[in-house]
Amino acid sequence: MKIVQIGTGGWGRNHARILSELGVLAAICDSDPKRSAEFGSKYMVSHYTDVDKMLESEEFDGAFVVTPTVTHAAIATKLLNLRKHVFVEKPLTYDMQEGAELVRLAERQKVLLTCGYIERFNPAVARVKEMVDQNRYGDLLMLEFHRENRMPLHIKDVGIIYDTSVHDIDTANWLFGDVPNMVFARAASKLHGQEDFASIMLGYSDDRVAIISSNWITPTRVRRSEAVFMDAIVRLNFLTQKVTVEDADGQETLGGRGGGEGEDGEPLLLEIRSFLDAIQGRGEHLVRAREAVNVTAIARAALLSSQKGMPIYLDLRV
Ligand SMILES: NC(=O)c1ccc[n+]([C@@H]2O[C@H](COP(=O)([O-])OP(=O)(O)OC[C@H]3O[C@@H](n4cnc5c(N)ncnc54)[C@H](O)[C@@H]3O)[C@@H](O)[C@H]2O)c1
Repeated sequence: MKIVQIGTGGWGRNHARILSELGVLAAICDSDPKRSAEFGSKYMVSHYTDVDKMLESEEFDGAFVVTPTVTHAAIATKLLNLRKHVFVEKPLTYDMQEGAELVRLAERQKVLLTCGYIERFNPAVARVKEMVDQNRYGDLLMLEFHRENRMPLHIKDVGIIYDTSVHDIDTANWLFGDVPNMVFARAASKLHGQEDFASIMLGYSDDRVAIISSNWITPTRVRRSEAVFMDAIVRLNFLTQKVTVEDADGQETLGGRGGGEGEDGEPLLLEIRSFLDAIQGRGEHLVRAREAVNVTAIARAALLSSQKGMPIYLDLRV
């Protein structure tokens, strides 16, 4: 199997490393000539600065698109038109209609299109998902997410909702197995050109709710979540991958990097492996592109709600 990668910046360097380790990286393309040459020689693969040139010259099965969000739709369209399987980093596209068109194109071409909602592959999230699916602590009622960090200064094309909150929007949809029918948000910009802090409330059927707090202002790196079930509170740390369950019998900690009984793993490796398996017909990839379009629709509604100061009602399909 041969895989090409477009975009080898801050995040893409990780994909290149893993794809090379897995022995499937055939070529890379980055519009920055220095980066293109650096990664081409590091992994001993052909390297390009122009996507069209790479597409003319290389034979391959699938591609990773790890370029800035506003470029995703155009690059993914070229790849899908050539009948390639495509993994696009999150968010799938900036524009929801463009995302929906990519989904239709992938269906017509009968190829896999997916999006990098990596937290589904975080062993801590997988643990909580299992608790939900097995109904271990009764119904899941509420979710709360905190994701905080100093702003990554190279991100210029989107604000925090499209860049960061989308991870938690996807995780909330994934854990509830549903999409929200109402979005209310407050967001503003304190230090940057685009919104750099946001509080988003997502209302789901049966009064279930997710509250998402994201900021690019405070200096510490926080990524955690709390799930309130009928019979337990479950706390999850995305970074340490530790999950703590508090119920009537007391408190128990499961998994976590560097200890515990958890079979932890690097989420990006698990995610990439799952994509490669899926395109070889070995299992289904967890993230369907249609779900990623829903995430974009919800992010857009959150931004709109924060601008208008009112709730936005949605009618999305799961
Ligand atoms: N899943 C995650 O946890 C996660 C984390 C970080 C970033 N991301 C996503 O990954 C994507 C890239 O983010 P980043 O932080 O690596 O950005 P970045 O700016 O560091 O890197 C982007 C790279 O793409 C190259 N590029 C830009 N336009 C190109 C084009 N048309 N053709 C070829 N190369 C092009 C740039 O030269 C740069 O090297 C974004 O969509 C971002 O949202 C996902």
